[in-house]
Amino acid sequence: MELPLGEDVIHFLADKFNLLSPGETILKAEKAGEGNMNVVLRITTNFRSVILKQSRPFVHKYPQIPAPFERISVEKAFYDTIAGQTRLASMTPSPLAFDEESQLLALEDLGASSDFTAIYSDSAKITDSEIVRLAEFLFELHSLQVDSFPSNTPMKVLNHAHIFSIPFLETPPINLNSVQPGLEEIAQPFRYDNVLKKAIGVIGNRYLLTGKTLLHGDFYPGSWLKSADGIYIIDTEFAFLGDREFDLGVLIAHLAMAGIEEGKIHLALETYETTELILSLLRNYAGVEILRRLFGVAQLPLMLTLEEKFKLANLAKTMILDA
Ligand SMILES: Nc1ncnc2c1ncn2[C@@H]1O[C@H](COP(=O)(O)OP(=O)(O)OP(=O)(O)O)[C@@H](O)[C@H]1O
Ligand SMILES: [Mg+2]
Repeated sequence: MELPLGEDVIHFLADKFNLLSPGETILKAEKAGEGNMNVVLRITTNFRSVILKQSRPFVHKYPQIPAPFERISVEKAFYDTIAGQTRLASMTPSPLAFDEESQLLALEDLGASSDFTAIYSDSAKITDSEIVRLAEFLFELHSLQVDSFPSNTPMKVLNHAHIFSIPFLETPPINLNSVQPGLEEIAQPFRYDNVLKKAIGVIGNRYLLTGKTLLHGDFYPGSWLKSADGIYIIDTEFAFLGDREFDLGVLIAHLAMAGIEEGKIHLALETYETTELILSLLRNYAGVEILRRLFGVAQLPLMLTLEEKFKLANLAKTMILDA
């Protein structure tokens, strides 16, 4: 089944998912918000609205790029795993129904909301208490005892390529000068720095291992939604059991790229306080995330000058080599 298709949506909601009550009819199906990987629709009925999220064996926005088909099973497994944890569950959409064969997940609609990618152009778009909430969410998530979770290997392999490999290829599949004139020149020394690349390779191999901590796996501003009643966390298709430092490192990297002052970044670290945190590994993961966002394919709407990017890239390098 492919969305959006009126009759199929009705069939799934009514017959397979049993989500339509007597007298309930579908009024509209529309794109729920910005996203690349999956089909994400908001279905509005005369009684309520729900979100339908479906993965295909390719990237929805770029159908020529293959992508792991079973990623929505992972997203569902994540929500099932945290279901008994009141605070975590209250910050994520509840899963309403799931069809494995068509990788279709019905989720609670969190309502009108926007993600936090606006912080790259205005760091004031995130408050101190929101930073604290994000760190608390990660701390609680990482404190869960999770005995088994899907390995999510195909998504990890995909992410590994985009984080640890592609940005450092000597001939990258992106013309950085079309992102910002002069950016490629800044990236060049990093692409030919074999000491740095070797260190990144070691961190990348560590990312591929299976750990004991359940991670969100893509904890960046596009996965944080701001609604009238607070912050919600969505899009858990990259979840896996790994290093807690990965999620936290990604959070810190994005706060830094948004130009958020160091004191506030420390607020996240103070909130997430555990002796189990390996600070050098945290700096490693954060450093790699900064470099891959500056020089890789998955670009962000950053508002940084070339000089600022150069400075940030060098800071990231020291986070990797002198952690
Ligand atoms: N449960 C929800 N309630 C309200 N809006 C939602 C919900 N889930 C998703 N959305 C909206 O749809 C957008 C896309 O969702 P999501 O990020 O899960 O899709 P995706 O295809 O995995 O995106 P990406 O390609 O960025 O990974 C979100 O940014 C948000 O605006
Ligand atoms: Mg996604």
